[in-house]
Amino acid sequence: MTTSPPEQFLTLLGESAHAGTLVKFTFGKPRSPDKTLLLLLGRPIILRGQPRLSLVWRHEQRDIIKNYPFAEAVALLAPLLGTDFYSAHLFTANGRVTQLEFNKKGMPRLTFGRAGKVAAPPPGHNRTRTRVLPAESQRWLVQLGVTTPTGAVREGMADKHRQIHKFVELLSHLVAGSGLPADRPLAIADMGCGKGYLTFAVYDYFNRVLMRPVQVRGIETRADLVKLCNRVAHDTGCEGLVFVEGSIAQTSFDQLDLLIALHACDTATDDAIAKGIAARAGLIVVAPCCQKELRPQLRPAPVLIPALRHGIFQERQAEFATDALRALLLEWAGYETKVSEFISTEHTAKNLMITAVKRPHPADQAAIANRIRHFAAFYGIQSHALARHLGFALDATPAP
Ligand SMILES: C[S@@+](CC[C@H](N)C(=O)[O-])C[C@H]1O[C@@H](n2cnc3c(N)ncnc32)[C@H](O)[C@@H]1O
Repeated sequence: MTTSPPEQFLTLLGESAHAGTLVKFTFGKPRSPDKTLLLLLGRPIILRGQPRLSLVWRHEQRDIIKNYPFAEAVALLAPLLGTDFYSAHLFTANGRVTQLEFNKKGMPRLTFGRAGKVAAPPPGHNRTRTRVLPAESQRWLVQLGVTTPTGAVREGMADKHRQIHKFVELLSHLVAGSGLPADRPLAIADMGCGKGYLTFAVYDYFNRVLMRPVQVRGIETRADLVKLCNRVAHDTGCEGLVFVEGSIAQTSFDQLDLLIALHACDTATDDAIAKGIAARAGLIVVAPCCQKELRPQLRPAPVLIPALRHGIFQERQAEFATDALRALLLEWAGYETKVSEFISTEHTAKNLMITAVKRPHPADQAAIANRIRHFAAFYGIQSHALARHLGFALDATPAP
C-alpha cells in the first residue's frame, strides 16, 4: 500500500522527533474557518524532563501554545493538513527541509530541499537539561559559565540554572494569557540584566521556542558585563539581542511589549516599572530586592510595636509595604497584577515576583487610588519611588 504525501510528511515528523533530529516545523497557507489563524508552528522541547512537541497556533492578535507528547501531537496535526493548512515545512538537522504543498484542487505534493540556515540540535538525546529552553540555549549557557560543553551544570551554578528554567516556565504561562501582539516583532527590555542569564533565556524562549521575531535590549551599568554579553550574543547567533551600558533611570523606550527587571536593587525596580508603564508594556515582570526606601518612614499601628522591636520583622514589613504598594500602583496605572514566589539564587526570603498584565479596559482608578492612600496612611508612608514616578500623591486625604 502506498502512503500519501501528508502521511509521509507526518511519518518524517514523528521519526525526526524521536530521533532527536527535528529542529522545527510550520504549517501555513491557512484555510481554517477561523480567519484570524495565520500559522501553526512546532518544535521539540523538554518539559519537566519529558520530551514534548510545543505547538503554537499563531493568530492575528495572540498565540495559543500547547505542549504534547510526540504521538499525541502527530495525531492532532494529521487532520489539519489539506483542511486547515495547505502547506507544511519540516526542518531537520543538517539543514534538510521537507515541503508539503496542496494545489488549488487540494492535491498534495512532497518535495525535499535544503534550508539556508537551520540550527541543528545536538546529536542524540543530550537535551534533558534544557527543559523548556531549546537545544541552542546550551551554547550561551556554556559561554556564560552555567554549564560545561557536555551539558553538566557547573559547580556553584545549580541555583542559577534552576532559576533560569523556572523563569522561562513562569514566562511561558504568562505569555499564553497576556495577549501580546502576534503581528509584529516584540520589543523586550531587561533592566539591570547583570550577566544576561535571564535576558538570553527570554530571547531564546521567544525567538527559538515560539519562533517570534524579537528585539531584546539588556540594560546594565557595568561595562564589563555589557561587553561580555554582546560578545556571547554575537557568537551564539542571537540576532536582535543587544546589551546597552546605562542606568535604568536614564533609559527610555518609545514602546515596549515586555519589561523585566529581576533583582534590581531598591528603587531601581521602581525606575524599571515606571519605564514599562511609560512605554505601554503589555507585560511587566519584576522580582524586587533590598527594599530600603520605606523602612525609615514606617509608623506602625500601636498593636504591632511589640512585634516590631525585632529588626527582621521591621525589614519584612518594609519589604511587604514596598511591594504591596508597587502592585497597587500598577493596578492604578491600568494593570492586573499578581504576586507569586520566584526562586532566589541567594538563600534569602527575597523571592517575590510581581507580574502585571495591561488591562484591555481601565479599572476604577478612583477606588484604587483610595485603597492606596488608606494603605499608605496606615503605615505612615509619605513617599514611594513608584508613586513619585507616576505623579501619584500618596499623602492626599483618602475618602472614608
Ligand atoms: C543582582 S543583579 C541581577 C542581574 C539579573 N537581572 C539577574 O537576575 O540575574 C543586579 C544587576 O543590576 C545592575 N544594576 C543595578 N542598578 C542598576 C541601574 N540603576 N541601572 C542599570 N543596571 C543596574 C547591577 O550592576 C547588577 O548587574
